[in-house]
Amino acid sequence: MTSITWHGHSCFTLVTDDGTRILFDPFLTDNPVAELGPDDVAEVDYILVSHGHFDHFADCIPIAKRTGATVVSTFELVSYCGTQGVENGHGMNIGGGYRFPFGRVKLTPALHTGSIDGDESGNFTTDCCGFLLDLNDGQRVYYSGDTALIKDMELLKGAVDVAILPIGDNYTMGPDDAARAVSFIKPETVIPVHYNTWELIAQDPEEFRGLVGDQAEVVILEPGGSYEF
Ligand code: NI
Ligand code: MN
Repeated sequence: MTSITWHGHSCFTLVTDDGTRILFDPFLTDNPVAELGPDDVAEVDYILVSHGHFDHFADCIPIAKRTGATVVSTFELVSYCGTQGVENGHGMNIGGGYRFPFGRVKLTPALHTGSIDGDESGNFTTDCCGFLLDLNDGQRVYYSGDTALIKDMELLKGAVDVAILPIGDNYTMGPDDAARAVSFIKPETVIPVHYNTWELIAQDPEEFRGLVGDQAEVVILEPGGSYEF
């Protein structure tokens, strides 16, 4: 059994069938809807970061330092973490995959902007990514990260059990484009994220469910809520 617990915005914890704990896009301290704070994250083995904006990265470095978790992201973002004293990092690039003990991780394209919160030099600004996880139990999870609707998503058709997609609009896909993404990817299940954190990205997830229709099961979580599959 794999579980995903949503902490609001695009921050969630995935626990694999073999007990590996993976934190995605850590944003807890200033996340107005998170059900836990950064110090409540007791154990984490890996931190997967889609890009360096504060609402995905703000708590990455402190949690990585405290727990010893390995940060997995683009080469530049992982390099920046190294300059800030993070000891364990695994840099990758778009289209590349690597087999970790819990399964294979591949970085997928995301169309978004890429400055890194805290990097005053600007030297580490880079592309954003999503993640395709091929877990040891055979489950396949796609987290798109912050992105526009991109035609490349069609390449994932048939390769995804659970898709995690932003629906907030303004900074990412809104509900219409996210529903089109579902029609491209055809996952079994889709979990909407990156909405209702602030007024600017307020959305009714039930509207998204209606747009998806019978193309996939839409799982709507509350912060702190979990989905098992
Ligand atoms: Ni962003
Ligand atoms: Mn964001």
